[in-house]
Amino acid sequence: MTLPREVRLVEMSPRDGLQNEAGPLIATDIKTELINRLGDSGLGHIEAASFVSPRWVPQMGDAAEVMAGIRRRPDVRHAALTPNLKGFENALAAGVNEVAVFAAASESFSRHNINCSIADSLARFYPVMEAAREHDIPVRGYVSTVLGCPYEGDIDPQQVARVAGELADMGCHEISLGDTIGTGTPLKAKRMLAAVTQKVRVERLAAHFHDTYGQALANLFAVLEEGVSVIDASVAGLGGCPYAQGASGNVATEDVLYLLDGLGIRTGVNLDSLAATGDWISRQLERPNGSKTGQALGATRQGAADG
Ligand code: HMG
Ligand code: MG
Repeated sequence: MTLPREVRLVEMSPRDGLQNEAGPLIATDIKTELINRLGDSGLGHIEAASFVSPRWVPQMGDAAEVMAGIRRRPDVRHAALTPNLKGFENALAAGVNEVAVFAAASESFSRHNINCSIADSLARFYPVMEAAREHDIPVRGYVSTVLGCPYEGDIDPQQVARVAGELADMGCHEISLGDTIGTGTPLKAKRMLAAVTQKVRVERLAAHFHDTYGQALANLFAVLEEGVSVIDASVAGLGGCPYAQGASGNVATEDVLYLLDGLGIRTGVNLDSLAATGDWISRQLERPNGSKTGQALGATRQGAADG
């Protein structure tokens, strides 16, 4: 068994974590404080915002203000989603370090999420790629529904590979494979990865697993064994997807970090500091902390404080 020596964690909570939050709009200063705290705990790659239509995703409507309000630092890459050229131009003006385009392996999910077919979405990304190249902005590509679709059920790994391959060919430096509704299991994840790596080298792939069925850590271990070394996660397990009913958050960053620390895999992230941020944001949003590790460390801290 070979596991990577180092993993880059890509923090999703400010975007994937907050985009679906029900209730009133989350204040911009809570988002900026979250992003600053995440950077302070050693995370070097943070998806900070989303330049999508505010009519589709109201919680991301203050993306420009968020970017303007955060503390920029040379050791943190602040990224944002951009579904089209308009989103890219707004993201560029806001000073992001990286943008991401997002496609799906399922036609129905593509239509629900971005209102067009897979082919149309890919065609729409070419001008984004060109503009990004002109401005020297790296582009990440997402493929959603790689291990199952809320509308179509099982997804053919070859279809995932086709979409991932086209994103890589058009110039995305990294392809993040999204188990949008968390229905994957480890062997399924390995089979999907085996198909994708026929088109895209494993060094260019990231795992983006939601934890709806509690399988995300097992699935991550399975793909770590196959050489994946970039993992998307969200502190306190925040999040969901507005166009995938019942989808829960990304796997909790604290839980992933506890696993990686236990395996002796370097990340550069401090678990105590990260767990404190998970507690803090859960209190701000008045919701239970979705990280098991976060809960355990919180209980340990409380126990110590109680004497
Ligand atoms: P549309 O309605 O088909 O777009 O939406 P349109 O081009 O016809 O434009 C309609 C209106 O939206 C126009 O305004 C545009 O200017 C405006 P109007 O003239 O009516 O006033 N508009 C924009 N406004 C701001 N920023 C933009 C933008 N583009 C158009 N970028 C569109 C198409 C893609 C815009 C829409 O469907 C959309 O914004 N979808 C976003 C969906 C989304 O954010 N989903 C969640 C993120 S993906 C995800 O969570 C999965 C992931 O985590 C991986 C995984 O877990 O699988 C990444
Ligand atoms: Mg997601």
